[in-house]
Amino acid sequence: MAAKWAPDSWRTHEARQLPAYPDAAALSAAEAELVNYPPLVFAGEARELKADLAKVSAGKAFLLQGGDCAESFAEFHPNNIRDTFRVILQMAVVLTYASKLPIVKVGRMAGQFAKPRSGDFEEQGDVSLPSYRGDIINDIAFDPAGRAPDPARMIKAYNQAAATLNLLRAFASGGYANLYQVHRWTHDFMGRSPWSKKYSDLADRIGEALDFMAACGVNPETVPQLKGASFYTSHEALLLPYEQALTRQDSITGDWYDTSAHFLWIGDRTRFEGSAHVEYLRGIGNPIGMKCGPSLEPDALLRMLDTLNPGREPGRMTLITRYGYDKIEAGLPKLIRAVQREGHPVIWSCDPMHGNVIKAPNGYKTRPFERILGEVRGFFAVHRAEGSFGGGIHCEMTGQNVTECTGGAVAVTDDNLADRYHTHCDPRLNAGQSIELAFLLAEMLNQEMMNRAKAAA
Ligand code: PEP
Ligand code: CO
Repeated sequence: MAAKWAPDSWRTHEARQLPAYPDAAALSAAEAELVNYPPLVFAGEARELKADLAKVSAGKAFLLQGGDCAESFAEFHPNNIRDTFRVILQMAVVLTYASKLPIVKVGRMAGQFAKPRSGDFEEQGDVSLPSYRGDIINDIAFDPAGRAPDPARMIKAYNQAAATLNLLRAFASGGYANLYQVHRWTHDFMGRSPWSKKYSDLADRIGEALDFMAACGVNPETVPQLKGASFYTSHEALLLPYEQALTRQDSITGDWYDTSAHFLWIGDRTRFEGSAHVEYLRGIGNPIGMKCGPSLEPDALLRMLDTLNPGREPGRMTLITRYGYDKIEAGLPKLIRAVQREGHPVIWSCDPMHGNVIKAPNGYKTRPFERILGEVRGFFAVHRAEGSFGGGIHCEMTGQNVTECTGGAVAVTDDNLADRYHTHCDPRLNAGQSIELAFLLAEMLNQEMMNRAKAAA
């Protein structure tokens, strides 16, 4: 029987990756303020997402999760929110058509502010300062005042998350997510891209399907679902004082929910046994994720699943694998076999980003598009071989035309990286690379679905 859980029971566990706030009184004041703020999301919405994810774990839907590595105060602008939302919708339309499955759309948005770091300090010359840990904690500028963790940043992050979510909710329900419009964007965008030839066939078929539906009288006026989209938010539940302050008891079920986002995940650096982050997440009712990197052994994974999903509730647990293009085929099968043997219902999602970071000769952190694709290919190949369902993709992307990941049809080269390198943390796919990834994924998913149909025949 597990020990009793409370929103603050994580405090007696080992917490890695949390900042050491120099001013304890200021921290308490910020926490006390957040406790009285309205929830950002509602328990019922988190339960709806869990039900959608249960369909993914049953092979009847596909998960698309994407957005910034780190949201920032500097990049906070309605156009950035709109453009990332738009690209996620464009990707979803392509994936829906290819897989004939509903796509569960989850943004790394409206709260993705806190970052785990490999070192506590950053050295520049002979100066050593605390590492940048995301705008909710400290400032990216390398100066002593800015790098000191400041709890008042939690309030600013909350307000930015609230405004972002408000806009996303309006976009999702106010006509901006109209299916016909979303396809038109993809079509226009492709017309200007050198890869339009390669994918125009699929895009044309989507267009024909929409024309056919329209001719049958199925349009946004007659079927309101075509006008909107359900869209959920997510972030890494890293900064536990912030997450605790937004943890609320649901009046309907009496269960606790983290109301800072619909979906929360545990990072690869905080998923060890005895972790404060695991302790916190086991008690909330939201659907949750866990990053699974090369150091995770099958037995440890099974113990983690018993802790985080003891009731084996479908939709509760998403395993986000992030091995690296050259490690996934060797590392992933043993996790899948262990999970299958124990019969845990999980969603397998592929994060092809975090195992594929390299340093370009000019010092920029980048990810070659080919390696990202390589990991996605490896992911589907392993799941096909193991008879499991590769049910999701998790990517760091933006709707802007940044130059952070190299490669893609409009190739970003090492020499271009300096042009528009805006990320506050890891390199993101730009709009074109994201849509290209969706088309390539579509080909793989389409193949999956044909294999499935063959096997069923
Ligand atoms: C992230 O998703 O931004 C991240 C830090 O990932 P991971 O924990 O897998 O390294
Ligand atoms: Co990242």
